[in-house]
Amino acid sequence: MMKKTLLTLILVLSFNGLFASTPPDEGIWIPILIEKYNIKLMQEKGFRLTAEDIYSVNRASMKDAIVNFNGGCTAEFISGSGLLITNHHCGYGQIQNHSTLENDYLTNGFWAMSREEELPNPGVTVTLLKYMEDVTEKVLKDISDDMPAEERDKLISSRIADIQAKAEQGTDYRAVVRPFFMGNQYFLFVNETFRDVRLVGAPPSAIGKFGGDTDNWVWPRHTGDFSLFRVYAGKDNKPADYSPDNVPYNPAYYFPVSLKGVQEGDFTMVFGYPGTTSEYVPSYHIDMVKNHINPAMVSIRTSKLEIIDRAMESDPLIRIQYSSKKAGISNAWKKWTGEILGLEKMNTIGKKQEFEARLTDWIEADNQRKLRYGDILPKYSEVYEGLKEYTLVNNYTGEVFNGIEAIVLARRTYELASLFQGGKTPDQKTVERTREVLSAYAERFFRNYDRATDQELFSTLLSLYGETLDRKWLAPEYLKLKATANGDFKSLAPKFYDSSVFTDKQRFDSFINGFGKSSLKKLEKDPFYMLAIDVSRFLGANVLPELTRLTNERQTLNKRYMTVQMEYDSTRIFYPDANSTLRVAFGNVMGYESRDAVWFKPVSTLKGIMEKDNPEIYDYNVPARLKELYANRDYGRYGSSDGEMPVCFIASNHTTGGNSGSPVINADGFLIGINFDRAWEGVASDMAFNPEQSRNISIDIRFALFIIDKFAGAGYLLDEMTIVE
Ligand code: ARG
Ligand code: ASP
Repeated sequence: MMKKTLLTLILVLSFNGLFASTPPDEGIWIPILIEKYNIKLMQEKGFRLTAEDIYSVNRASMKDAIVNFNGGCTAEFISGSGLLITNHHCGYGQIQNHSTLENDYLTNGFWAMSREEELPNPGVTVTLLKYMEDVTEKVLKDISDDMPAEERDKLISSRIADIQAKAEQGTDYRAVVRPFFMGNQYFLFVNETFRDVRLVGAPPSAIGKFGGDTDNWVWPRHTGDFSLFRVYAGKDNKPADYSPDNVPYNPAYYFPVSLKGVQEGDFTMVFGYPGTTSEYVPSYHIDMVKNHINPAMVSIRTSKLEIIDRAMESDPLIRIQYSSKKAGISNAWKKWTGEILGLEKMNTIGKKQEFEARLTDWIEADNQRKLRYGDILPKYSEVYEGLKEYTLVNNYTGEVFNGIEAIVLARRTYELASLFQGGKTPDQKTVERTREVLSAYAERFFRNYDRATDQELFSTLLSLYGETLDRKWLAPEYLKLKATANGDFKSLAPKFYDSSVFTDKQRFDSFINGFGKSSLKKLEKDPFYMLAIDVSRFLGANVLPELTRLTNERQTLNKRYMTVQMEYDSTRIFYPDANSTLRVAFGNVMGYESRDAVWFKPVSTLKGIMEKDNPEIYDYNVPARLKELYANRDYGRYGSSDGEMPVCFIASNHTTGGNSGSPVINADGFLIGINFDRAWEGVASDMAFNPEQSRNISIDIRFALFIIDKFAGAGYLLDEMTIVE
């Protein structure tokens, strides 16, 4: 025991010494530029393969094994039969959707014991990158910053449309051109999208979401955050709509899975789809986010969560109904809180201001530069004055009215209603189609709807709206309602909720089934409908035009600000902000100092799950079977050499939202983990990466295999994987 502690200490010390001189691991890099910019450093850090192994157009490479999972996450192939692994929280919506009180897959987990048992998920897609290309020249040729903005944008848009059309010609692929470095560079992405994606396996929430929202964004972590899906294709291995006749997709490449595990200091690489970062913004932006937007959003979500948490605790059905919605609300709520703390602690605003002062001196020192760039920062200051207010009004209003579910459904009905507006007699087919889409939406809506909970949300959120925003930003219909209610929305609510068509499935169904001209009158008397329409109209007239103007102006400034930063720091290799395109991050397995005198080790184990066990709390209620395996130390070949069962590990890879589900790859290109989160102290990394404390959290792949095989008895799934012992 003693000896081990000492050894760890020595490792930590020498380790810190070793990496003090190498550059920090900040950066989310472009796959086709790895050869040029990164491979040398990656190899110095321990990587044993080449840039071609990561991305190649000439042969199978890692990129052929990685998909964008349903727009918001990453997933990767781990077999030649289309088996995909991603996070539990990425498949959460699907797992929840298949769950009922009788078959509660959220609580109990789900394992298809044969291909026939795999569950289809209509609407879910995965997208594979076929190739990418730098098209900056083609997009920006002969375009200068002096051109009138409108003319520039038009020219750029039409060139992009041409490039995309050409790339798609004669293929089933979708092409998209995306701006990088705020529009200083453009890349083309050619993608293939698969539409038959089936659920194969998910652990119970007490494993896949262990620690719930309490442990979310926090290290040390013990969450087995993984789930399995399978991609199906037509007999030609091409994307196809769901059909029982489809066959498992055969990817050009899939990841071998390593049982070797990780040691502190090991090289790791994360290859996936990071969503958004804002690393090059001026201090004004940080001020807006940290001091204005985040606090307001955190506060309103705190109120929402109080209501939803109480309801979920009170009733197992409500727990299922609201679990997915709640996870979403809570996730950003907590991240925003962490960002405020992190930005404060790092003094990001102060540091940016110092940088801006230095930059300004440098700009002023040269007349040409002054002419070209001298106006950027003063203009930013002005633009952000406006943005602060308009963004807050827009986001807060959205947060209020998207939080009242009856209003969300009412807004959905607008399309059907609009077919009949102005005395029109619509085409019967259009009516049918619109009604079908709406019915399908309402079906799922009511399955996950609890009227009493929504009623509480209604009165609380409407009160907050009036208390938080200046009166001039409140929609007229709201003010009318408030006057009628004498400010007491709580007393008003039952009347609305007991009679509206948007709060009851039967009322809703019969209303839209018989929908016709006369239905409009009923809608005009419905408070939810009237609020929905009026708020949209009000925002459209009074907020969005100015917000759009300011946003466009900021975009123009962003491009120039990026240029001047690159010119000022001309020897630095910049990485572009995340923009939901495929990227590479690399680093090493590494602990960190959480606070004074507290050093966090980089690996967590099953022991920690047992320490957190608490049958009283849903999120910490360790399944009996897992306790049994622990008691018997029955880890099979998945345990580590010291007899422990590893669960999660952290490393210094730069990641963000969207990277969830990304493969974590070792020096030999084998899969060692699935990325799923970041550690609390470094969570502001979307705006300021902190090499001391920014860590990505991954589930150790051995824990996932242990759960599949030993816990769930679905070991047959391992037969199709390539396992490297
Ligand atoms: N924080 C992680 C991410 O941003 C995981 C969230 C899912 N887990 C949860 N408890 N809500 O997506
Ligand atoms: N949990 C995030 C995701 O879902 C990852 C992160 O923000 O670190 O993509």
